[in-house]
Amino acid sequence: MSLFTIAILLILIFFGLASDLINIDANDMSFEIPVIYNGLSSPSSAYINQTTNVSLVSHAGYMDELMQLRMTRRGLMYSVDMAIGTPSSDVTVSLDTGSDITWVQCQPCRICFDKFLSPMFDPKLSSTYKTMNCQYQHCGAFYSTAIISCAPDNKTCMFGQGYMDESVVAGSFSEDYFHFQDKNGRKKRSDFPLKFGCVHRTEGDFSPFDDGILGMGRGKVSLISQLNISRFSHCLSTSGKISYLSFGDAARLEGETVRLIENKMEPSHYYVNLLAISILDGKNHLALDIPPQTFAIDDNGRGGFILDTGTTITRLHRSAYAELTRMLSVVFLLSHISTVHSIYGLSYEYCFDVSLEEVEHISVVFTIDLVDVKITGNQLFYEDVDATNKPIICLAIFESDRSDPTTSLFGGFAMSDFNIGYDLHKQIVTFNSTTC
Ligand SMILES: *[C@@H]1O[C@H](CO)[C@@H](O)[C@H](O)[C@H]1NC(C)=O
Ligand SMILES: *[C@@H]1O[C@H](CO)[C@@H](O)[C@H](O)[C@H]1NC(C)=O
Ligand SMILES: *[C@@H]1O[C@H](CO)[C@@H](O)[C@H](O)[C@H]1NC(C)=O
Ligand SMILES: *[C@@H]1O[C@H](CO)[C@@H](O)[C@H](O)[C@H]1NC(C)=O
Ligand SMILES: *[C@@H]1O[C@H](CO)[C@@H](O)[C@H](O)[C@H]1NC(C)=O
Repeated sequence: MSLFTIAILLILIFFGLASDLINIDANDMSFEIPVIYNGLSSPSSAYINQTTNVSLVSHAGYMDELMQLRMTRRGLMYSVDMAIGTPSSDVTVSLDTGSDITWVQCQPCRICFDKFLSPMFDPKLSSTYKTMNCQYQHCGAFYSTAIISCAPDNKTCMFGQGYMDESVVAGSFSEDYFHFQDKNGRKKRSDFPLKFGCVHRTEGDFSPFDDGILGMGRGKVSLISQLNISRFSHCLSTSGKISYLSFGDAARLEGETVRLIENKMEPSHYYVNLLAISILDGKNHLALDIPPQTFAIDDNGRGGFILDTGTTITRLHRSAYAELTRMLSVVFLLSHISTVHSIYGLSYEYCFDVSLEEVEHISVVFTIDLVDVKITGNQLFYEDVDATNKPIICLAIFESDRSDPTTSLFGGFAMSDFNIGYDLHKQIVTFNSTTC
């Protein structure tokens, strides 16, 4: 506790001008950092034509299928540029409200994923980098998909995380200063070193635009907990525009309010109370026949409905998904729109031979508490091509993972073009439909 009492203060640094230190007091704690869709606003766009395997991963671990995605489809994740160390090195991490631990690939990295952008972080070049020793209070902690454990030979903390898509990362659990660039391009350094995984080995498919993951979950070692942040908001853009992740007083909590639910067995996740799903086809409102208990958290901590920016595609409890696609088939049949296969011919994709404009009248409404959260257009569908390279669209909702078939989650595409605010004190989440 004492370690952190002063530490929630953040220091603003006009980078390179040491005399321009700005202290922000605790009551005012507020900062905003840019979020980039797919890294496309960065100079890397030359690489978007490459074909690569990117997992439509849930970093919370709720996705098992891999897809080979052409980067021309513009990647999948929302990323944040930040820097680590002294002097600082730039890294790009994907925004993940579905997991806790922030990690980046570190040199030396024997088995790592390809990177298109900045060089990999080299801890040897940072004078403030430290590996945590086994005395660290969370060394020995288990999270649903992550472990921080003591290596007996050298008494340092090791970190490992597995994802349900069978990706694995492993390395040292470490600390160093983080630098976030704010709206005005100023770098703001954390007032104290933050804990993160310095990963020396990765297996599986990760975004080549990123160095790792920014862990924004609710658990003890997440960025949110380490900085003692009680309010934050994001507004994820679909147009490739830079949007902002806002903390503290800068967070925008506006629009409709729903309750944030805690799940003691999965303390990392942001759960909300999904009660019903319906389809809007123009003026026709079709309620789906889904028992309300379908989305409840059961006694084993399974089930529920999670807000997870780290998963691109929304995932629904198997029975709800079956009912949704059954009703959508009727809607599409009435509009004489036929289903097709994407170029990959994947069984879990549900695709149609039309353009996005032609389905503008179709929305899916998620009723959370008393609030209707309506998704449509490219929140609801993604664009792809069929085997003959003809443009098609596919439903950006899949059924839940086989390994956890009752847990549902609201993914990054669905959450885009909503300002979503979190207040962890008041235990609320706000939704406001907007163009981010
Ligand atoms: C975290 O912030 C709250 C106010 O938002 C404050 O009451 C509490 O003491 C802080 N905790 C720590 C460990 O700094
Ligand atoms: C992708 O490749 C095509 C042809 O190979 C080219 O015309 C196009 O400009 C490329 N796009 C980008 C963003 O590099
Ligand atoms: C992507 O994964 C598939 C199946 O695992 C594999 O056959 C293919 O070669 C991979 N493609 C690339 C570009 O790595
Ligand atoms: C500590 O030991 C483990 C193996 O037990 C090794 O992987 C790790 O790199 C070592 N860490 C340091 C800082 O030497
Ligand atoms: C929702 O966002 C819009 C901007 O897109 C804003 O004008 C409006 O006031 C917000 N609604 C609420 C209830 O704050």
